[in-house]
Amino acid sequence: MPHPPADTSSDDLPEFLRASRDELAKRAYEALERARARTTLLTDAVDDTDLVRQHSPLMSPLVWDLAHIASQEEIWLLRGVGGHEPMRPEIDDLYDAFRHPRASRPQLPLLSPAEARGYAHEVRGRVLDLLDRAPGDDPLTRDAFAFGMIAQHEQQHDETMLATHQLRAGAPVIDAPEPPGAVDLPPTEVVIPAGSFTMGTSTHPWALDNERPAHAVHVAAFALDTTPVTCGDYLRFMDDGGYDDPRLWTTEGWEHRVRDELTAPGFWVRDGREWARRRFGVLEPVPLGEPVVHVSWFEADAYARWAGRRLPTEAEWEKAARHDPATGRSRTYPWGDEPPTADHANLGQRHLRPAAAGAYPAGESAYGVRQMLGDVWEWTSSDFTGYPGFVAWPYKEYSEVFFGSDYKVLRGGSFGADEVACRGTFRNWDYPQRRQIFAGFRTARDAGPV
Ligand code: AVJ
Ligand code: FE
Repeated sequence: MPHPPADTSSDDLPEFLRASRDELAKRAYEALERARARTTLLTDAVDDTDLVRQHSPLMSPLVWDLAHIASQEEIWLLRGVGGHEPMRPEIDDLYDAFRHPRASRPQLPLLSPAEARGYAHEVRGRVLDLLDRAPGDDPLTRDAFAFGMIAQHEQQHDETMLATHQLRAGAPVIDAPEPPGAVDLPPTEVVIPAGSFTMGTSTHPWALDNERPAHAVHVAAFALDTTPVTCGDYLRFMDDGGYDDPRLWTTEGWEHRVRDELTAPGFWVRDGREWARRRFGVLEPVPLGEPVVHVSWFEADAYARWAGRRLPTEAEWEKAARHDPATGRSRTYPWGDEPPTADHANLGQRHLRPAAAGAYPAGESAYGVRQMLGDVWEWTSSDFTGYPGFVAWPYKEYSEVFFGSDYKVLRGGSFGADEVACRGTFRNWDYPQRRQIFAGFRTARDAGPV
């Protein structure tokens, strides 16, 4: 079908992003300090024994994340931007994520909790000095990019540490207020007519390499759930024998279902005749109206097939989240270009659970799709690959080495994602069998020509 090229000038920098270097440096300072407050909260919540312990072979000890955060900050900002000499060259190898798989990290001669805290503190002090002085004319420092990248890196590890907290056995050590409830439930799905839109960005100052460049993508008409799939929806799939019917699963998915003896989402436990779930150390009834979380891509895919639907592609997801049919441009966030507030989305560990499906009407996209950012990461049907014209920047190990068919893309960000690492173009990825991340999904269907 012929289609007009998308107008990629619709990726024009919106007002908020057209900021001066001083303004971007100020935002970098705030983002770095917000990340550090969260890192401190997550690492001070437990004692030293707990910090060095491995709570799951899928995760690093929390003390590894802490020193790795500082190590990356030293490498990119102090050495890279500032030209400083290495502070502790002997530890570089220990905190290189590619040298040591997570399961082996507890056996390494890691910095102790006190040493890791001291190192992180020292690096940060020097980084804040540098932020005041760094010239803005090289590609790493233009728009304070490297500082924004490092704030995103720390927040991504904070979300990983939050997942470690969820895996940790024992009494609760972190807490947060309850999220808002659902309001004026939208219709269950919306149809998004066929047409081109601008995917990705070439202009967001802190967009990471895999979000670039902006490019036109034609998307056939499809229908998308207006909210993520809830625990109540998912229970119907379970009660209908979804876990016992291989026809609903891909071959690999069924192998995963059998090998891991899956019968329910992660952290769900049978409580007599009902299901309960464990959440940050608290056992509670499964909340029927809340987006389901801790499901693998294979489970999401099987559910969608059971429902007579499918997972959305990544392009469908982004079009539903960003495209504004009235102007033809792609928004930075579903609701527009203003940065998220507490009324738009459940982000930043402000709450320790997803909000009920149908919450955050102010965060709705132009098409009326709710909760696209925040609450739960959403599995898409797409493999993680580079956009046309992709250039690895500033290092291949952030994205490029993961491109291929091993990883599936997740979009949107969870309640544990910070706004600095969450926008309409942001891409996350993981293995399709992973369940420890805060991942849920919504479903789609073809809609034929509209
Ligand atoms: C984008 C979340 C898949 O945690 O492996 C952290 C982010 N990259 N340190 C990950 C990341 C380097 C990454 N994910
Ligand atoms: Fe990292």
